[in-house]
Amino acid sequence: MSRYRSEFIFALCNSGAEKALKLEVVSMGLPWRFSYQKKGFVAFKADTSIGTFDEVSLNEPVAFARRICLSLGKASTAEAAEDLIRQAVGKTPLIHRARYFDHTMEGLNTVPGVLPEQPELGVCIGTIVELGPDEFFAGLHIHTSDISPYPAGDSGIIMPERSPSRAWLKLEEAVRFFNLSLTKRDIVVEVGCAPGGVVLALLERGIPVIGVDPARMADVVTPYQISDRYETPAGKPWLYHCRKPAALVGKKDLGQGVTWFMSDMNQSPEIIIKECIRFASMSSGIRNALMTLKLTDLSQVVEKSAWFEMLKSGGFKKMRLQSLSVNHRELALFACK
Ligand SMILES: C[S@@+](CC[C@H](N)C(=O)[O-])C[C@H]1O[C@@H](n2cnc3c(N)ncnc32)[C@H](O)[C@@H]1O
Repeated sequence: MSRYRSEFIFALCNSGAEKALKLEVVSMGLPWRFSYQKKGFVAFKADTSIGTFDEVSLNEPVAFARRICLSLGKASTAEAAEDLIRQAVGKTPLIHRARYFDHTMEGLNTVPGVLPEQPELGVCIGTIVELGPDEFFAGLHIHTSDISPYPAGDSGIIMPERSPSRAWLKLEEAVRFFNLSLTKRDIVVEVGCAPGGVVLALLERGIPVIGVDPARMADVVTPYQISDRYETPAGKPWLYHCRKPAALVGKKDLGQGVTWFMSDMNQSPEIIIKECIRFASMSSGIRNALMTLKLTDLSQVVEKSAWFEMLKSGGFKKMRLQSLSVNHRELALFACK
């Protein structure tokens, strides 16, 4: 039995992704009728075939939605929005705050840059979204293992100056959004690794990396670099830079023990997924994959079932496609066996 129902739901997304989100909802055949939109915010009304939404409606895997909430209505102040949440839940639950500010739908953490505690699974969370000076929406959702624990699906992580690229942020945000388990026992192969933002984030987590890219790596990762894949230092992270295009990488370049495939190549989704499957066939220890899919147009999201089918044919069982707060014209795709 569902605890909460509403005629409306709203989705929080990256600014500029609203149209693609609506297109994705239509392509998924969901009984959601478009109702209202602002930058970073799209609301839907339940189709007459279902009448109202409940908590289960929030679990639809809409890639462009960073957070989906049952809508409790609109208010002119944050306090009034909080009242709407209190009335619906019967007490004040954990409240997440979000706002559209500086062209960004941002989640607000109590202390900027400091991650809040992870909510427990099954807990009801209220969200107050500020869209303008007198426009606040109140919503709620139930925390599950498949959604980000952070307000508006935005961990608020800040990139350190030493990172040679924004890709550092993409890796760190994906780890938090998908709650990825990466340990020092893993070996990651990253294709499209230069100049090395992702590589740096992994090395600093203590994880060895085989980086594939014909381009040069930034100096910041030089201290970790080894020249022979078969002579790896024990007990500390290392980087083996395989300076080739992905298509020329063979079993010998990978060696033993690779557990993760990652890609940040600026190639089409189909080429990236094809390489993911080929790498996993060369290295049977690859159980997990994290790929940044660069889109020429956000409407390419309607091809997502074809991407999932390709991955299934390569032995991957669970797939999650997601727009992260740090993504622009791209989507993060996580897949595991
Ligand atoms: C967005 S950059 C990668 C940023 C990088 N992941 C980081 O953490 O700094 C894209 C990279 O993909 C590489 N690339 C494009 N096609 C490739 C291919 N077929 N094989 C390997 N690398 C490729 C480019 O050389 C470029 O360095």
